[in-house]
Amino acid sequence: MRFESPDGKMLNEDDPAFGSSWIGEESCCYKTLLPGERFLGLGEKTGALDKRGKAYTNWNFDYFAYPVDGDPLYVSIPFYMGVHDQGAYGIYFDNTYKTVFNFGASQRRFSSFGSEGPNMDYYFIHDSDIRGIIRGYSWLTGRTPLPPKWCLGYQQCRYSYYPDSEVLNIARTFREKKIPADVIYLDIHYMDAYKVFTFHPERFPDPGAMVRELKAMDFETVVIVDPGVKVEPGYPVYEEGVDRDAFAKYPDGTYYEGEVWPGWCHFPDFTRKDVREWWGECYEAYLRHGIEGFWNDMNEPATWGNKIPDLVEFDFEGQRATHRKAHNVYGMQMARSTFEGVRKRLSNKRPFVLSRAGFAGIQRYAAIWTGDNVASDEHMLAGIRMINSMGLSGIPYAGYDVGGFAGEASRELYARWIALGAFSPFYRGHSMINSRDAEPWTFGEEVEEIARNYLNLRYMLLPYIYSVFYEAVVDGMPVQRSLAIDYPRDERIYLDPYQNQYLFGPAFLVAPIKSKDEIAEVFLPPGKWYGFFRDEEWKGNQEILLKAAMEELPVFVKAGSIIPMQSKVQSTREKPEPVLYLHVYEGPEPGRFEYYEDDGNSYEYEKGVFYKRTIRFEPESKAIVLDKVEGSYAPFFDHIRIYLHGFDKNLQITVNGEHCKVERTSHRFVRPISAFDPWTPVGDMSKVIEDLPYVEIKDSRNEINLNWSN
Ligand code: GLC
Repeated sequence: MRFESPDGKMLNEDDPAFGSSWIGEESCCYKTLLPGERFLGLGEKTGALDKRGKAYTNWNFDYFAYPVDGDPLYVSIPFYMGVHDQGAYGIYFDNTYKTVFNFGASQRRFSSFGSEGPNMDYYFIHDSDIRGIIRGYSWLTGRTPLPPKWCLGYQQCRYSYYPDSEVLNIARTFREKKIPADVIYLDIHYMDAYKVFTFHPERFPDPGAMVRELKAMDFETVVIVDPGVKVEPGYPVYEEGVDRDAFAKYPDGTYYEGEVWPGWCHFPDFTRKDVREWWGECYEAYLRHGIEGFWNDMNEPATWGNKIPDLVEFDFEGQRATHRKAHNVYGMQMARSTFEGVRKRLSNKRPFVLSRAGFAGIQRYAAIWTGDNVASDEHMLAGIRMINSMGLSGIPYAGYDVGGFAGEASRELYARWIALGAFSPFYRGHSMINSRDAEPWTFGEEVEEIARNYLNLRYMLLPYIYSVFYEAVVDGMPVQRSLAIDYPRDERIYLDPYQNQYLFGPAFLVAPIKSKDEIAEVFLPPGKWYGFFRDEEWKGNQEILLKAAMEELPVFVKAGSIIPMQSKVQSTREKPEPVLYLHVYEGPEPGRFEYYEDDGNSYEYEKGVFYKRTIRFEPESKAIVLDKVEGSYAPFFDHIRIYLHGFDKNLQITVNGEHCKVERTSHRFVRPISAFDPWTPVGDMSKVIEDLPYVEIKDSRNEINLNWSN
């Protein structure tokens, strides 16, 4: 096989001798390793952004406190991209068996992908840029549905909060301390003897009442649901499963048993449609209490010993397959059953599903988090690269346990991590049993203020974040974007520490920094940039050093960006001021943003009930144009306030030809941090942006033309 671009450039070709070949049953395809070729993607994988020189295995694996170069982990995405001077391409290896990708590990002749199974089916995807390849891959394997807005807020988890009074206390503390949040989790201790679809009778005697109380505080509840069903005669889920013959079996027809939290368990065969439907029905046990979010964990599937025998059999949609073929899709089919079952029963509301395991296409059903990470700087940075890689591989909705699951974060580490999380798609704090408390207020008053700042910022950014998610829904573009999407041929983005940088949506450049570092090394890609907190201007195409005290995450805004924001709220349910703040950043290049809004929780948008408009920054004609509104949704905001960053302070403005009064304000995105600890110097990130010009206009569905002159 040889693939050329339409203009005759060689993109990819088989090794002339080996091509696709077999060793016994094992298939493998060998591709000539090209000079300078780099490898991106492969989903949730550790290691560098460029995976050249490394090999990876896809076999969903429960890896507690994995090392930062650990492999395999929980998710298998047999998709990668190659980039070289001649072009770029993507390869999706359509194979659910254990697969191995070798990008020049232990040899320098080929890149290869091979499988324990005999088939060699792969899709070759080409486009002129990385975006196009991601679009192609996500078109093939599916795109994420629009999540309910509440799950874009902050989510607080713990292994485990119980009893109910503790859960309520945590939620109340968020409200009392004015730290915004939307979700609280129930981990395995909410169940009766870890039996799924039950509640512990003493810890949670009246779950409905607790969920109602939480809702009254604007909190949603998410419960963990693992696949293992305890073998216990009399336990309804077990009995029903047996009646339906729903569990995976040995070839002699007896049910496979593996040990997990509840003890010996059977495992529903989610590769069978009727089993998925039955499991979907089981969620009634939670839905009747008002629970609308579900966390599918241990769905690799994991068992103590991590070695389900290969001979265990699954239906595999009527094709009958052994564990070798079904293992990697098990978790995705479980998430699918959860999503589809809940969606059907939630009458027009969007469910939220979080999954630990997944396969290519998981984005259609669930968000992914990176499992049992560790409280360390290396893990914080590795997590970012994993979310970046997932974004390159069709999974836009992903995150890590902020603060680290295993081990205990220092105050500096927690402060850095909670700040980063505000600029990640899935924002959840979680930590392990028998470790210190890890809520935002448990690291001292200074860190509490830092956390509050970033959490407030997250909520102020929701109009932007929600619009960026919409782009993922229609186009497959990730929310957290590796620099390899826009600058794949710039060598600098692959260097440490720059390889950890990313764009959060189209506007923000985020440069992660280790907990103890106070000087950040940042690579600014070509173009003009602004420091987000102080509005200082930077020339791009350079590497810079920057002071960044504990409370400051280095965040930059690309010139020409348009960032919609709202006033501070404590949850996604709380109504902000009815004014949409549009922050526009002056620059030599035009910019555009697709603003999207809807009711945030129903499927009415599929019938056109949304409010969408393109907003354009046009430096040539000195105009900011809000295109005519599409869709029939009446927007929440009735006014639009446009902040003009980097513009001449004495500018004159007309709106649709009429003179418009320019106001000026001192502006800050975050509150100043007070030094509670006399030994910690306080930085100046919360310095005021002086004399920031703005205009406020009434919203209208027609095109709005703003023109400026100096
Ligand atoms: C697994 C999950 C972790 C969870 C724990 C108990 O280790 O990865 O997030 O808290 O199980 O359910």
